[in-house]
Amino acid sequence: MYFDPKDGLKPPPFKHTVYNALVVPRPIGWISTVDTKDVINLAPYSFFNALCGDPPCVMYCPNGYKTGTMEPKDSLTNVQEAGEFVFNMVTMDLLEPMNATSIHAPASYDEMAEAGLEAAPCEQVKPPRVANSPIALECKVLHIIDLPETRTGVPNTTVIGQVVGIHIDDDVIVDGKIDSAKVQPLARLGYLDYAAITPDSIFAVPRPD
Ligand SMILES: Cc1cc2nc3c(=O)[nH]c(=O)nc-3n(C[C@H](O)[C@H](O)[C@H](O)COP(=O)(O)O)c2cc1C
Repeated sequence: MYFDPKDGLKPPPFKHTVYNALVVPRPIGWISTVDTKDVINLAPYSFFNALCGDPPCVMYCPNGYKTGTMEPKDSLTNVQEAGEFVFNMVTMDLLEPMNATSIHAPASYDEMAEAGLEAAPCEQVKPPRVANSPIALECKVLHIIDLPETRTGVPNTTVIGQVVGIHIDDDVIVDGKIDSAKVQPLARLGYLDYAAITPDSIFAVPRPD
């Protein structure tokens, strides 16, 4: 089939918006920020990715409003004000707290504490990282870019940051490499689906030259 997305993202026979199931798997950026009163905010963003390796840069996309409001998401307001965020890796054992932090809550709600997660301090940015996450990237904002609005006028945004500090749990470093089988990163598929990187799903392919 073929369809033009300007006519809607749920053409027959689809029962749900289909786009989120078309570009998969997506890494999940578990983004920590702080507001002007130093309240911690933590939320998952699967419109997230690494953009370049040297210097390392990442991006995430706060799309739409907080549910039931016309207010921007806290992960956008906080970086607009402070210019700093932290990427925390979501792993299989952090699935439940990650999902809990996607709750739509007022800015005064500290998702990290409410999800039972411990905060660990960062070196170069104010937002803390999730202590139990094996990889965390401290980031300073480079650009905040408006994307096209939805057909009903709801805003979409991309936040691009440069990584200024990198935390790696020593336990996932094996033979001088990151052992992804030990990290077990979680990825987002469409709908309510996820995929996990498990030891038997990893294989290496030599380059042709
Ligand atoms: C796995 C997962 C991925 C998500 N990805 C995004 C995303 O890329 N962009 C977005 O705007 N919301 C995304 N959400 C929803 C946000 O996490 C949710 O709106 C959250 O309440 C935003 O919190 P904040 O206002 O504290 O930033 C995702 C939710 C989950 C569970």
